[in-house]
Amino acid sequence: MIEFAEFCLLVLLGLLVVAVILVSVFFIYSTVFSGFMKRSPFIITTGATYKVMIPEMIAKIEECEKKSDMKTPFNIIDAGCGIATLLLPLAKKFPQHNFVGVEIGIIPYLIAKIRAYGYKNLQILRQDLFTTDFGKFNFIICFLLPKTMQDLFNKCKKDISDKTVFFVNRFKINDLQPSKKIDIGDNFSYIYIYDYLPEKRK
Ligand SMILES: C[S@@+](CC[C@H](N)C(=O)[O-])C[C@H]1O[C@@H](n2cnc3c(N)ncnc32)[C@H](O)[C@@H]1O
Repeated sequence: MIEFAEFCLLVLLGLLVVAVILVSVFFIYSTVFSGFMKRSPFIITTGATYKVMIPEMIAKIEECEKKSDMKTPFNIIDAGCGIATLLLPLAKKFPQHNFVGVEIGIIPYLIAKIRAYGYKNLQILRQDLFTTDFGKFNFIICFLLPKTMQDLFNKCKKDISDKTVFFVNRFKINDLQPSKKIDIGDNFSYIYIYDYLPEKRK
C-alpha cells in the first residue's frame, strides 16, 4: 500500500516537473522570439477573457449579418493569431464566412496550421501583419502590445472600409472610441469592440 502511495507521489512529482519545464520553455520562447518584447509575444487568450470574448464576437458577427449594408460572406482575420485559439470556435460556428490567421512565429504558426486542418473556411498564413493587406477584411481581431496595436491601426486605416469592426483584447486603439468596452472583472483585462465609423474617430 505504501509502495503504491509512493509510486503515485513520484508520478505526481514527475508531472509537476514536466509542467514546470513546459511553462518555462513557453516563456523563454515567447520572450526570446518577441525580441525581448519588442514585438507582441506569443500569449494565448485563455480563461475568463476567452469565455467572454468568443460569445461577444459571435453576437457582433450575428448582428452584422442582419445589416443590409454589409455584404456576406464576411472576411475575418486574427492579426497575430497564435495557435488559432480564437479563430477555431468562430470558424466552426460560422462555416459560411472566411477566416484568416496571420502569424509570424514558426512554432505557433505550425500548431495553428495543424489545428486548422479540416476547416475549409480557415486559412493560416506565416506572414508579418505589417505586410498584410487588411482591405478585404470586415472584422479584425487583435491581441497585441499597445505600440504594435497603434502601428497596426495606423497602417490599415487607409485600406479598410468604414464598416470594419475591430475586436481588441487588452490594449486599446487610442484613436478610436470603442462602441463597447467589456470589463473582465479584474480591473486590468478589458475587451474593446470598435466600429470603424469615421464619426467615432476621436
Ligand atoms: C498576444 S499573442 C495573441 C495570439 C492570439 N491572437 C490569441 O489571442 O490567442 C500575439 C501574437 O502575435 C504574433 N505577432 C507579433 N508580431 C507579429 C507580426 N508582426 N506579424 C504577425 N504576427 C505577429 C505573435 O507571434 C503572437 O503569437
